[in-house]
Amino acid sequence: MIAFRALAVLAAVAGALANPLQARQALLPNPNTNVAIHNIVSELDMQVHINIPNILRMQADHTATDSTIGFEVNQLITAFNNAHSALQNTGVSKGSTTKMPTNDDISIVFGDVMQLVATGLSGLTPATVPSITTIIARLDPSVSATAHQLNTTLPGSIYYVHTLMLDAQQFLVKEGTWSSTLAALGF
Ligand SMILES: *[C@@H]1O[C@H](CO)[C@@H](O)[C@H](O)[C@H]1NC(C)=O
Repeated sequence: MIAFRALAVLAAVAGALANPLQARQALLPNPNTNVAIHNIVSELDMQVHINIPNILRMQADHTATDSTIGFEVNQLITAFNNAHSALQNTGVSKGSTTKMPTNDDISIVFGDVMQLVATGLSGLTPATVPSITTIIARLDPSVSATAHQLNTTLPGSIYYVHTLMLDAQQFLVKEGTWSSTLAALGF
């Protein structure tokens, strides 16, 4: 009986201790996850720096077709989807304007990604790539989801990307099928 009571008291004490601890953890501010976010957008940027030059080269040497451009765009879709899910699996960052990588550092990398994608596809026409409109339309949801998730995982980070895209957004408008991405960038 005494042993049972002692156990019950111990359990009650443990319960009383556990709850304030959980409450305190819940009150902790978001960690700064900028390092992880920067790694994710940098990996995406590296892949974009492979596929967009490939696309420009194909355009220059007249090997751009539905199939060759479709292959490069499929790789871009995979890269954006990977970045999207990696950002989803990263804790929301409280960010930093002073500690590297800063919030602006991250927006600049993603702005580079967006500028390359917007300009890199702008020279392709249905004359050489008959399905170009459909190909870009396939890319739009992956890019917009990534931009939207970046703005969630690093809250407000799209604001500076929007500024960086003020000139290049015209290419997205001209290419036609980028409505979700334009919205995710605040245009
Ligand atoms: C980005 O997130 C901020 C909140 O952190 C929000 O106010 C803004 O509307 C979002 N921008 C876009 C384009 O969704």
